[in-house]
This record gives sequence, C-alpha cells and structure tokens, in this order.
Amino acid sequence: MTFELKPFRIGNLQVDFPIALAPLAGYSDMPFRRLCRQMGCEYATSEMMLDSCIAIQSKQQMSLIAFGDDEHPLAGQLVGNTPEMMATAAKMVADQGFDVVDLNFACPVNKAIKRKRGGRLMNDPKLAIEIIHAVVDAVDVPVTVKNRQRYNNDDTEENFWQMAEGARDAGCAMLTVHGRSVEQKYTGPADWDFLRRVKAHFPDWTVLGSGDVLSPHHAIELLKTSELDGVVVARGVIGNPWFFRQCRAILAGDEPQVPTLAEQAEVMRQHFDAQLEFYGERIGCKNMRKCGIKYARNHPHARKLRMTFVDMKTRKDFDRILGEWYTDRYEAELRKKVLREGISGMTCHMPNVRP
Ligand SMILES: Cc1cc2nc3c(=O)[nH]c(=O)nc-3n(C[C@H](O)[C@H](O)[C@H](O)COP(=O)(O)O)c2cc1C
Repeated sequence: MTFELKPFRIGNLQVDFPIALAPLAGYSDMPFRRLCRQMGCEYATSEMMLDSCIAIQSKQQMSLIAFGDDEHPLAGQLVGNTPEMMATAAKMVADQGFDVVDLNFACPVNKAIKRKRGGRLMNDPKLAIEIIHAVVDAVDVPVTVKNRQRYNNDDTEENFWQMAEGARDAGCAMLTVHGRSVEQKYTGPADWDFLRRVKAHFPDWTVLGSGDVLSPHHAIELLKTSELDGVVVARGVIGNPWFFRQCRAILAGDEPQVPTLAEQAEVMRQHFDAQLEFYGERIGCKNMRKCGIKYARNHPHARKLRMTFVDMKTRKDFDRILGEWYTDRYEAELRKKVLREGISGMTCHMPNVRP
C-alpha cells in the first residue's frame, strides 16, 4: 500500500521528504551527509559545533562548519550556554551559508552537562529561552531547537513545555524532540506517545520526532501513525546511508533492498575518498576505521568483519579488506541472511553506538 508524503516547513523553506538525517557528532560530517543526500535524504543537520570555538574560528572546529554546494537545505547545529556567544556563533553559521541554525538543548555527554551545555539546559529553560531570543534576533535564517523530554527520569514535563512554548513564542521555526530524558542518554525505548502529545499541543508548528528510528519500515510506520511532521534518523543510518533509499522504496510500494556487496564497497570507497580529501590522511583513516566497523552491519559476517576493521590503519589496509570481504563469494550468503532476517535484521539496534 502506498502512502502520501507530506512536506514539512521550516520558516519559508519547504522539505519534501520528511525523513531527515540527525545531527550526529563524529558522523554527520560533509562526506557522510553528501552520501546520504545521494541516497535520497533532503534535509540534514551538521554535527554539533561549540559556540565559542565557532566564534573564535578555532581551526579544529572549522571543519565542522564546512559544507558542499550540493547540500542545501542544511542546518548548522550549535551548543553553548551564553546568549551572547551563541548569537555570535549563530551569525557566523548563517553568514557561512547554512539555511537554518539549530540549537542543541539535548546532548547528554558528561563534558557538556558539566559545563552546563546541551541537555543540561533542560534544567534551565529560562536560560535556554534567553539564548533562543538572542539567536533569533541575531540571524535572518530560521532558528530551530532540539531538546529532550526531560532532564532526569523522574522530573515532571514542566521544563519541557516551558522551553518548547518559549521557543515557539520567540519565533523558532521548528522543534525536534528526542523522546528520552537526558539521564537516559540512549538507553530504554524512546517515548513516541509523548512525541505525539507534543505535536497535538502544537498543531500549527513544525515538530519532528527522534528516537529509535532504527529501520526504514519503522521510520515509515512512525510517519504514518505519529502525526508528527517528520522523523529524524540517527543510529539507524550510521553505516547504512542506503536507509533513505530504502524508505523511498517502501513509500513507492517496492521491496527495500540491502545493497549488493559490490555496491557497498563502491560507496565505502567513495566515502573514504571524501574523508581523505576533507581531513587528510591521518584523521581520514581514523574516521574510516570507525565507519568501516559500522558498515559491517550489512555484511553476512558482520562480527568477524568488524574485528577486521578494528585493525585497519591505512587506505591500503582498507582496500585489502574490501578485496577479501566484499566479493561475489559472500553475495549468496548475504541474500540468504536478508531472506532469513529481513532488512531489519541488517539495519536495526546498534546499542554500542554512542557519541
Ligand atoms: C553517535 C551519535 C552522535 C550524536 N550527536 C548528536 C549531535 O551532535 N547533536 C544532537 O542534537 N544529537 C546528537 N545525537 C542524538 C541523535 O541526533 C538522536 O537524537 C538520538 O540518537 C536518538 O535517535 P536514535 O534512537 O534513532 O539513535 C547523537 C547520537 C549518536 C548516536
């Protein structure tokens, strides 16, 4: 059965395909975003960027602010805790040509929490709203907010509603909610009933949902049943940029395909080339080791292959691994595995992936 997609709006931008690439520190860089776009993604967000580093144009963080001409519409995400610094950084992000500035009030990593950034602001909605106002005043592009359901598991939802309503009243164009508490980090199921309530509360505001969008079938199911304007895919796409193409196939009434090993190898080579060009040899190889481990999920010998990628150090090692593992010899096994486990068997749960 086919299902009609509804575009969503971010201010005066229209996004036709409502399955977006999440901000993913360590993954949603320019090389990966471009691959996802090639596979049918239409809206993506950068990795989070620290406001102070962007404001002083720290060399280390400037790679985060780069993007390609083919990447629009694209959001640049900022994390920080002072209205002035966030406004300065937002202006740089907008001047750089990002179409949207996204503000991160969701990050649960200890370093951010200790420094009162990211998800820690779920405990201080007043400061979050001051930041939002400062950023909205500083830029001409749409400003959006990413937050979570609550800070601690046993907190009420009061801070969430205060922050969300404050963001809407300040003129934010969209809210993305990760349906977990900050304390939960990435464990336990995301609360989609809560996300449905958020959308019901803001019928005229664009609201995207995040959490456990781990397989293309589940993404479509959530789109059909949640009433949210879109869903955001995070761990589900790491090592599987084909996710977007698979979603589009389901929507067209076709069977989504796990790519052949030959295609997987071709895309991985393309990813490596882009990493080398973007970061140079040392960081490019390090990043591709991490990504190779994730790409192994679409291989019939995922566990053994992951261990092989762990030892990868150079492009030569990488080409050797592809030459040994991505051959016709394993294609029949891959097809059998897909028949046995379905596409979700290849693409779901990655509890070991953490920022
Ligand atoms: C490796 C990794 C990096 C992430 N980096 C960011 C980030 O930079 N900014 C952000 O707002 N969320 C970040 N997230 C959270 C995701 O965007 C998403 O909200 C979360 O993973 C829930 O979706 P999932 O359960 O489908 O993975 C990250 C998550 C992971 C796993």
